Amino acid sequence: MASYQLWQMQPGNLAVMMLLLVLHQVLAQGPPPLQVCPEQSDISPCICTVKKNGLDILCETTDLAHITKSMGTLKGKSPIIFYLKLRHNNLPKLQGFVFLALDIRHLTIHNSSLAAIEENALSSLGKGLTQLDVSLNQMKTVPSQALQHLFHLLILNLNHNKISVIHNNAFEGLETLEILTLYENKITQIDPEAFRGLESKLKRLNLGGNDLNSVPQKALSILDTLKKLEIQENKIRTISEGDFEGLQNLDSLILAHNMITAVPANVFSHLSQLNSLELEGNKISVIDKDAFKGLEENLQYLRLGDNQIHTIPSEALRPLHRLRHLDLRNNNINVLAEDAFTGFGDSLTFLNLQKNDIKVLPSVLFENLNSLETLNLQNNKLQRIPQDIMEPVIDTLRIIDITDNPLNCSCELIWFPKLLEDLKNKDDEMSQKKKPLCHMSLDNREYFVQAMPTEKMHCSGLNIIENP
Ligand SMILES: *[C@@H]1O[C@H](CO)[C@@H](O)[C@H](O)[C@H]1NC(C)=O
Ligand SMILES: *[C@@H]1O[C@H](CO)[C@@H](O)[C@H](O)[C@H]1NC(C)=O
Repeated sequence: MASYQLWQMQPGNLAVMMLLLVLHQVLAQGPPPLQVCPEQSDISPCICTVKKNGLDILCETTDLAHITKSMGTLKGKSPIIFYLKLRHNNLPKLQGFVFLALDIRHLTIHNSSLAAIEENALSSLGKGLTQLDVSLNQMKTVPSQALQHLFHLLILNLNHNKISVIHNNAFEGLETLEILTLYENKITQIDPEAFRGLESKLKRLNLGGNDLNSVPQKALSILDTLKKLEIQENKIRTISEGDFEGLQNLDSLILAHNMITAVPANVFSHLSQLNSLELEGNKISVIDKDAFKGLEENLQYLRLGDNQIHTIPSEALRPLHRLRHLDLRNNNINVLAEDAFTGFGDSLTFLNLQKNDIKVLPSVLFENLNSLETLNLQNNKLQRIPQDIMEPVIDTLRIIDITDNPLNCSCELIWFPKLLEDLKNKDDEMSQKKKPLCHMSLDNREYFVQAMPTEKMHCSGLNIIENP
């Protein structure tokens, strides 16, 4: 009793008691209520599981009536539906207010014959929805009206639909959108103001697998936050100076598998931040000496494989002093100049020349390639690869492929088994499976280069360089 009175009399006690009261209330209230799934029978045929951040609800091979009924069960209970996945259903039209009073964060409507989304079908989800995936459906246009209230959306996936035209302001209202993918539609036209509203946040845009025959320059030019642009697998025949103007933060540009025949001067000159450029699978035979102008400070990856290039475009490549990865596989290169890699070679770690028609390697070809780790010469017409040519790169190489060349067995190839042995000792990932063969004219038979009969060949010791 005395102590109680004493306690009460202390001036600081009121504050302490208030604090205890608040603490007590917090403890009584506990953490936010655990999300609870409805009875299975109430949401059947959908299936509900509890995940850390909310419910995960999956509805497959059913129809709108069943889905609407299941959604009805969840209304009023106000759970967080972290994932609502509707797949392989028959849902030609998403009706207004179907998700009313639901808090859905990630919504997927995949492969469900969806052709129309009514204006009010998604409007109630605006405060919580961050991802919307309506891939593999029958959408013929961007459902702009239905999307315009999704003001927290980060990712919109419209892949594998039937969209042919992207009209002006198609994504208006989606000001938080960071990733937009339209892969494998039927897009032939993108209006100049198509991406208006996306200019402050959009980081990735995928327009691959469509029917574009030119770069939609006007529409793209406002996207100055864009980091990655994919326009692969379209029908682009020409690219020209100014096509990528405005994309000053672009880090990765994928133009692979189009019908581009030439890379003209200054075409990428606005892309000073570009790190990776993919041009493989086109019909490129002409590369202007100023083709890569503007990319000097950042370009590290350049893919030019599966084209019709006749010679290493050394002059165009020379200013690229950061280039690490150069892929020229499957072209028509038959002659290599002595100085093919001078000027830019010392930063290269990866060089792919496989599937060309190279017959001779000039003796000083690899002289500057002092960072080279991967060298692919597979499937060329090489009869000789003498050790002195390989000397400058032999210490840095980790992976080399010289298979499928008409190599002559000779003592000058002894560097190869030695290199393999060294790499094996270094416990590197070097593939030992690819075993090059050579032809020995002495007994007219094929040997693995690793297993050439060096004694019979009179190679005096393993350090032989010259072969008469
Ligand atoms: C799409 O859904 C149908 C059932 O509606 C199914 O038969 C088909 O295999 C699904 N396709 C894919 C690619 O998932
Ligand atoms: C390779 O061997 C063939 C005969 O087996 C010979 O005709 C050819 O000149 C040799 N090539 C080189 C580069 O030594």
